[in-house]
Amino acid sequence: MKFTEPAGPNAIDNQTIISRPVSRIDGRLKTSGGAKYGYEQLGPNTGAAYGYVVGAGIAKGKIRSLESSAARAAPGVLAVVTAENAGKLGKGKYNFAPLLAGPEVHHYHQAVALVVADTFEAARSAATLLRIEYAAEKGEFDLQAARARGDGQPAPIEQDPADTSVGDFDGAFAKASIKLDETYSTPDQSHAMMEPHASIAAWDGDQLTLWTSAQMVDWHRSDLAKTLGIEKEKIRLISPFIGGGFGGKLFLRADAVLAALGSRKARRPVKVALPRPLVFNNTTHRPATIQRIRIGAELDGKIVAIAHDSWSGNLDGGPPEGAVAATRLLYAGANRQTATRLAKIDLPEGHSMRAPGEAPGLMALEVAMDEMAEKLKLDPVEFRMMNDTQVDPEKPERKFSLRNLRACLQLGAERFGWSRRPMTPASLREGRLYIGYGMAAAFRNNIAMKSDARVRLGRDGRIVVETDMTDIGTGSYTIIAQTAAETMGVPLSSIDVRLGSSDYPVSCGSGGQFGAVNSTSGVFAACMKLREDIARKLGLPFDSKFEGGRVASGEWRIPVGEAAANGDLVAEDGVEYGDLDKRYQESTFGAHFCEVTVDADTAEMRVRRMLAVCAAGRILNPKTARSQVIGAMTMGVGAALMEELTVDKRAGCFINHDLAAYEVPVNADIPHQDVIFLDELDPIASPMKAKGVAELGLCGVAAAVANAVYNAVGVRVRDYPITLDKLLEKMPIRA
Ligand code: MOS
Repeated sequence: MKFTEPAGPNAIDNQTIISRPVSRIDGRLKTSGGAKYGYEQLGPNTGAAYGYVVGAGIAKGKIRSLESSAARAAPGVLAVVTAENAGKLGKGKYNFAPLLAGPEVHHYHQAVALVVADTFEAARSAATLLRIEYAAEKGEFDLQAARARGDGQPAPIEQDPADTSVGDFDGAFAKASIKLDETYSTPDQSHAMMEPHASIAAWDGDQLTLWTSAQMVDWHRSDLAKTLGIEKEKIRLISPFIGGGFGGKLFLRADAVLAALGSRKARRPVKVALPRPLVFNNTTHRPATIQRIRIGAELDGKIVAIAHDSWSGNLDGGPPEGAVAATRLLYAGANRQTATRLAKIDLPEGHSMRAPGEAPGLMALEVAMDEMAEKLKLDPVEFRMMNDTQVDPEKPERKFSLRNLRACLQLGAERFGWSRRPMTPASLREGRLYIGYGMAAAFRNNIAMKSDARVRLGRDGRIVVETDMTDIGTGSYTIIAQTAAETMGVPLSSIDVRLGSSDYPVSCGSGGQFGAVNSTSGVFAACMKLREDIARKLGLPFDSKFEGGRVASGEWRIPVGEAAANGDLVAEDGVEYGDLDKRYQESTFGAHFCEVTVDADTAEMRVRRMLAVCAAGRILNPKTARSQVIGAMTMGVGAALMEELTVDKRAGCFINHDLAAYEVPVNADIPHQDVIFLDELDPIASPMKAKGVAELGLCGVAAAVANAVYNAVGVRVRDYPITLDKLLEKMPIRA
């Protein structure tokens, strides 16, 4: 299905099954332990051996020598894989540092060896016998210092330019009545998903089966083939259940490559999981940013000038954090500019983490907007509404496909009781506790991606959907089943969904909040093709109705299974986008509200309640969508108050590399969350009239918390996370 014009009325509009709060169809499997994750696919007594990954002990330099004879002689050891004996390795499209280092080391804990043994314990024990000598070189690990030296180079944000400029920012800013010029910083963050990166590899001749935990089946398969120097068709890649990814499993990682190499050497299936302390420095993370924001406005509250400069760092070949992305689109203002600077930093690879760009960008922009509203003596909600725009502010000829930001702000303010917000910071107390209200706008782009699926109708009327789409804990199985059931007019219980295998047609995969909208659009397309095949088979017109498990036309009511009486009917199709996303700006919008308390004596901060209002087109399943959004809101609280990879500037690594020291919120930190979805359809964005929603739930949250903390105690912290040490000295003196 070529999607080139806005969607007209279609089968999805019936909303008899889609848009219903259906519980996960894989819920029982998951809660009963029946869902098999990558590392569990081959259990005990299957002949599988275990690989233990050894990470580099330096951040930059060379391996001078790697002595493995003692390890090889250790009990149970089957093989030791190093760059020296692994053969020539290629590089995948999405990795910029090799996944097996040697002799060059590019970052701390980059894999330098895999020890394979009969048991995990034997492999781990033998790994301690490796004698590795390094020639360390000096690296750059300090973004502040790199920025101060002027090291940042302009770097494009994927397809978008590094810098943009409209009108005369400098002139308009100089003349503006009210001005803000502040700098904000966000730290390196880790995806910290529950399931670590894990794979099992098994060779059969030159055919490789890899069970793994991958958000993007086809990307992993292609990059693994390139890395191993074999044809993609020789690899079967299977990733049916995933214990979270948040972008950390978008790209091929060392576990998969080393499992394949280890299995080839040991001539056994090999299981490799990254131990938790390796995940933080061996894989990717969200890069730290330094962001300067300047806003100029007239006394009436209209923004006349806005500029956003962002600095981040990465290894050679790595992308910048696109923190200015939202600023290009969120508010009106005739004179504007953005700049993206990238410094060379020798920390581990920086890459996509949930809402890359927008999430850290809004941590700065939405605090700047709060500061500006205060200078203008305007309510922050009002200030944002005044500067809303229905066109791309950089390209006014481009409209948004749908933009209901104002409605989100208005409804949110009403439902949250925003009018009760203390106007003056540090003015509301309940005993020891200061109370503060904060809010922020939410913004995240919608990404159109090709996605294919296959559907198979059996004579029993059951329909099997196959696509290499993944479910990273998001509910893909469920919404895909709902889509197929709605389109085919059959009950949900008649649908079987098979995901996460390279045996199936290539989907969009899971990432960038593009998974739900595109994968269901692909399934819808395949189902519409199957409907045509069924009608043809039954000799009925193409516009026959599909409902109640029957095909209906005129007097005819034929059970759909009859079309498969002489064998299964199989249809394969997908969604492929034209230029609608070029003609229109497709984005999602929302508003976050938050109430916090700050202890007057200790500065301990607690979030009391949160509300998100989201506008993201049709909501395919309000239950799974809500789960996505409350999870994202929780992550936003972490970004505001806890999360930070601490850089050891001498060793060049993240020093808090485990879940004890890398803090994220737990249930006790999150007392009350509400989510409201605006009832809207976006026929320009997709055949489903839906857009992405998950990452929207994160974008703006940290700023809403930061603004609430400011409202509570009148202390502005511009350096995340807002830990109590940053508040303590500046706390108001108690009366
Ligand atoms: Mo996404 S960056 O895969 O959460």
